[in-house]
Amino acid sequence: MDDIFIYDRGIPVSRIAFGQDFGDIVKALDACAGGPLPVYVVADANVERFADEIIALTGGEDSGASCRSNIRFCGKYTLKATEEDKTMDSVLAMADWLLRQGADRNAFILAVGGGITTDMAGFAASVYKRGVRFAYVPTTLLSQVDAAIGGKTGVNFDSYKNMLGVIRQPEFTYICADVLKTLPHRDFLSGAAELVKSFIIEDGGNYAMAVEFLSGLEDADNRDAYMAGHMDVLLSLIHSAAAVKAGVVTRDQFETGERRKLNLGHTFAHAIEKNARLSGDDITHGEAVAIGMAMAAELAERTGIAAPGFAKSLKKDFSKAGLPSTCPYPVPQLVEAMGRDKKAENGIVHFVLPAAVGDVRICDMELSAAVRSL
Ligand SMILES: NC(=O)c1ccc[n+]([C@@H]2O[C@H](COP(=O)([O-])OP(=O)(O)OC[C@H]3O[C@@H](n4cnc5c(N)ncnc54)[C@H](O)[C@@H]3O)[C@@H](O)[C@H]2O)c1
Repeated sequence: MDDIFIYDRGIPVSRIAFGQDFGDIVKALDACAGGPLPVYVVADANVERFADEIIALTGGEDSGASCRSNIRFCGKYTLKATEEDKTMDSVLAMADWLLRQGADRNAFILAVGGGITTDMAGFAASVYKRGVRFAYVPTTLLSQVDAAIGGKTGVNFDSYKNMLGVIRQPEFTYICADVLKTLPHRDFLSGAAELVKSFIIEDGGNYAMAVEFLSGLEDADNRDAYMAGHMDVLLSLIHSAAAVKAGVVTRDQFETGERRKLNLGHTFAHAIEKNARLSGDDITHGEAVAIGMAMAAELAERTGIAAPGFAKSLKKDFSKAGLPSTCPYPVPQLVEAMGRDKKAENGIVHFVLPAAVGDVRICDMELSAAVRSL
């Protein structure tokens, strides 16, 4: 599968590479090495075995003079990937470990895990010694199609999601399909919401293909067998979604315009997630995004941006695909959090509203007016 690049003023700044397994990871690391490359692996404790597999391929603990490549493995740090632990304290602990390991300005951080791990490791790499090089091996569907692409890094702060962070591109994102085999179904569906989101933003025929693939998975008696039999379809969807994101980021890396489209469903989703945290409810990021996209479709319809019936048909597709679309909280309960969303400015929220599949628009709207419409 072809590599995808993110460009900054015509210069490639981040590469997205694809592999069935970890076979080509040494090649990807070697491509980053002008000379000896001191690699520090940061891994989600739940997927430590993948990190160990990669470390073994690089020559492991004994890498160095005897290793055929320039990669020098310098240590592994494991973290707990939960939203509660996605904090500045965790980033400081990582920085403390790097310092104690003797990591200098040449350090190269390789993050192995889902979006929580890549967001935190990318942030730590961006601020450690004013920034060292880093790359990602995303192990969830969500991070393969979204979180590990585009350079947004960060942590939660004061009960708000991703309040502190920077935008800095990983040198590469290595997408390996095999890792998804161990991903729990609920986490897979969480990523499926972001996959579907990509195709509501830019369709190219992929939206219908994604809904069909997910409906089949939902109905399958044996999901593992279905996945194994449809791996080529899934890989093609991941590649297309990654290309959508890379294209948008290339055109608007620092989110002054078009990149806001990637927030489709997220203004509602972040408010839903905040309510869930306060009420002790268990809602994944992807579930909140799916509900948020359905709410955005409702708002688009009620404000005349989408044709009548659009929200209903979207919700029908979501239901077939196993994605939720009904908000468990009354809209007024979401308002305070929406006003505090990072994307809100002076009471005006940049709502991203779908006019149709493949046609989303950024609509600046007063929060109170939006709430009245809903
Ligand atoms: N930076 C961005 O642009 C961006 C975009 C979207 C989301 N995000 C962030 O991503 C985070 C969500 O990411 P996520 O859904 O990947 O969550 P995650 O990192 O929490 O992973 C979900 C769960 O799956 C486990 N896991 C990971 N890979 C596995 C595998 N292969 N097999 C078995 N278990 C595995 C993890 O330990 C965790 O329990 C949120 O914090 C969100 O804010 C960032």
